[in-house]
Amino acid sequence: MRLDAFVSRFGRFSRSESRRIIRNNGVSLNGVLTNNPSEVVDETDTVIVDGRPLEAFWNVYIALNKPEGYVCSRERSEGRSVFELIDANFSADLSTGGRLDKDATGLLILSNDGKFIHEVISPRKLVEKEYLVETAKEITKKEISMISQGLFIGNNEFSKPTHVEQIDHFHMRIVLTEGRYHEVKRLVSASGNKVIQLHRRRIGSYCLSEELRPGDWQLLSENDRKKITGT
Ligand code: URA
Repeated sequence: MRLDAFVSRFGRFSRSESRRIIRNNGVSLNGVLTNNPSEVVDETDTVIVDGRPLEAFWNVYIALNKPEGYVCSRERSEGRSVFELIDANFSADLSTGGRLDKDATGLLILSNDGKFIHEVISPRKLVEKEYLVETAKEITKKEISMISQGLFIGNNEFSKPTHVEQIDHFHMRIVLTEGRYHEVKRLVSASGNKVIQLHRRRIGSYCLSEELRPGDWQLLSENDRKKITGT
């Protein structure tokens, strides 16, 4: 990466500001002053601007255990945002790989790698999302059969899970490969019941760690990422 791009990205300056800073003040690269914006740098280099070392980050991949009451948007008017929970210098560059409703909990993937995010959410990639659902009314065999055959859920949209299973009187497991707006809630409503609690526990073959408490997050390894997208 060029030095001006590095200073702009990790110092949070515009590209023109970063060129001006480098040309005027000079920036220290591995302890040596340089005023050449096209110098090539990588993550092992130490870049200091006005006495401030820039902390470089490249692609980051995160699993968050989303707590209830947080929205997956940056819009402050909608309430507390999941991005507030990621207190790191790369937080502003993250996007979520699919959303969870404000009242839903569980596994949320975040990354600054747009291609990866696209793979997580693209219906064509058929990445499974597993939900644990608690219902308002006792679940019937008929509801499970209706959901497993697929239902129209409004707006002329048809949803058919890849797996449905009753766990007990008030709980079921639903696995989807798409991520339509309120898809699980609309599916359960179309069968005649109502979701009162929704928790996502798996994406692809990656399961939310039981050690991750609500509101906590962890960086994903390359192996974890492969479990999510299968590639
Ligand atoms: N389906 C829903 O209804 N809500 C979610 O948050 C995720 C899937």
